[in-house]
Amino acid sequence: MKMVNYEVTVFTGSLDHATTYNDVYIKLMGTDGESCRTQLRDYKGSSAFARGAVSSFTVPCPVSIGKLLLIELDKQRFSLFPEEDWFPDKVEIKSPEEVTYTVPIYRWITDSKVHRFREGTALRVFEDNHRLGRYSRDKELKRRKEEYRMIELKLEVLANCKKKWKDMHHLNRAFWHKTHMADYVQEHWKEDVFFGYQYLNGINPMLIRRCTALPSNFPVTDDMVFLHGQSRLEEEMKKGNIFLADYKILDGVKQNVINRKKQYLMAPLVLLHKTPQDQLMPVAIQLKQTPADDNPIFFPTDSEYDWLMAKIFVRSADFNIHELNVHLLRTHLLAEVFTVSLLRNVPMVHPLYKLLIHHTRYTLQINILARLLLISKTGVFTKYAASGGEGMITILRRSMSSMTYSSLCIPDDIAERGLEDVPNFHYRDDGLRLWDIISRFVQGVLGHYYKNDAEVKQDSELQKWISDIFVHGFLSKKSTGIPQSFTSVAELVKFVTMVIFTSSAQHAAVSSGQYDFDGWMPNAPTSLQCPPPTKKGTTNEATMLDTFPDVSTTVHGMAVVWLLSKQSTDFVPLGHYPKNHFTEETPCKLIKEFQERLEEFEANVKARNGSLGVPYTYLIPAEVENSVTL
Ligand code: FE2
Repeated sequence: MKMVNYEVTVFTGSLDHATTYNDVYIKLMGTDGESCRTQLRDYKGSSAFARGAVSSFTVPCPVSIGKLLLIELDKQRFSLFPEEDWFPDKVEIKSPEEVTYTVPIYRWITDSKVHRFREGTALRVFEDNHRLGRYSRDKELKRRKEEYRMIELKLEVLANCKKKWKDMHHLNRAFWHKTHMADYVQEHWKEDVFFGYQYLNGINPMLIRRCTALPSNFPVTDDMVFLHGQSRLEEEMKKGNIFLADYKILDGVKQNVINRKKQYLMAPLVLLHKTPQDQLMPVAIQLKQTPADDNPIFFPTDSEYDWLMAKIFVRSADFNIHELNVHLLRTHLLAEVFTVSLLRNVPMVHPLYKLLIHHTRYTLQINILARLLLISKTGVFTKYAASGGEGMITILRRSMSSMTYSSLCIPDDIAERGLEDVPNFHYRDDGLRLWDIISRFVQGVLGHYYKNDAEVKQDSELQKWISDIFVHGFLSKKSTGIPQSFTSVAELVKFVTMVIFTSSAQHAAVSSGQYDFDGWMPNAPTSLQCPPPTKKGTTNEATMLDTFPDVSTTVHGMAVVWLLSKQSTDFVPLGHYPKNHFTEETPCKLIKEFQERLEEFEANVKARNGSLGVPYTYLIPAEVENSVTL
């Protein structure tokens, strides 16, 4: 009988320890039949599957197997030899009909079981018609559901010197890891201009909003803020020049005890004014939500230390809200929900998997570490932040209810907060451009696979993905505006854009600058150990030093933000897919276009930054990681 030959090329990955010396077997399965399980052997012998190796083999078959559907791979050790992990990147198969198929793998094979991998063409569930394909799709998802369990956004889980700082000189000396921006912060932290700047371009650009009417619990009057009658609040509000930062979700939150000392966390209200010089200046600060005689409203015209102390309490409140709501909840935990739902509901062969898998890299791992090292009972946040422990649970629970779909989509969020035309708002400008570039890419890829709304509605795997996110990430609350199902291509494209934006750009914006802005403790105390002044004229430098966190708290805070700001060693920038699961021409072309647009945008940002006193670098594409990894 005449045999037909398949030429099989195996690409082993270039990761450390990707090599295996075990025997590797393959079986090819197609629409018309299958090959025997065949050992892959060539002249290279044992180094055929070494790190980075590309090795070709011949697999004979009695007859053609038709269109390739999937392959089975397994590796077996020789007796007495250890089991060795192996990381194949992909397998290429050239059929006797001269068709080349690519099977993306990009994962570890650690055991001697048989593993199935699908041919690279993306297939949605309703077009995966062959019995074999259907079977392996179901099996893959069943296994993944066992491996990845949904954790409810578990709110219930969710150096030793206890001396105070003697003087600023000591504090200066402890601040030894410098970055250019951290230096700048150390120099300018007391200035009102910089205080205002951070609401737009610091690591928490998410709180400030345009103020059209003063909240009833913030009784600021004209003569308080415009001493010489230059203007009226009412008028300035009408012109859109008044802004508010309201920390009300911190109101009444249980304050931590650190090194046996009670800590203080305020829930301030901050009023800001956009000046004719286009600077955003704080004009009034009330540290507690309920107006009272012992809760004075502070102004820039108060004594140097009264005003500075008010700002320090605001910055400490900002640290706590930023880390828990803006950083942990709205990027890390959300990205985890998107990831787990993807892994449980969407098989490797699905176009959504191929598109999103790169944006989930290391997310589960880093969140496990965060749970262990930051917010566990003995975690650094629990021990050294004013809201650590019970307070954290309250803040996360309240933050959950403010986590709406529109607040996660930057174009909607900026409009909702009335910030469309605030000058020098680089987070907004860069963020909107990135959103746009990501959206065009997502539209291209998903538009290629979904030609009409009916195909979206029909895709049961896609629907399970969003449904799990709605139920587990947003606790089935319709008021969040999160879709419960996808009814159109446009709806799908917007949601997937949000997923990629949140895991990449948004995380970078609220995370990469942590050491820059929070490393210098006075700009972002994790906690404060004296209550704020209850009347004016009682503060001085000594009051400030007494209020600052003690030495051990400061140093732990510094060490953590340093660690959290470092780039991972195998950093992959936005839009780069070294392990591309797409094999078809269109998505590969779209990826290239995506990268070109990002490069073009990067050049624009760099040109803009050249003309800025303080460059805004957190959304430069080369600095933005594809996924939440740190
Ligand atoms: Fe992070």
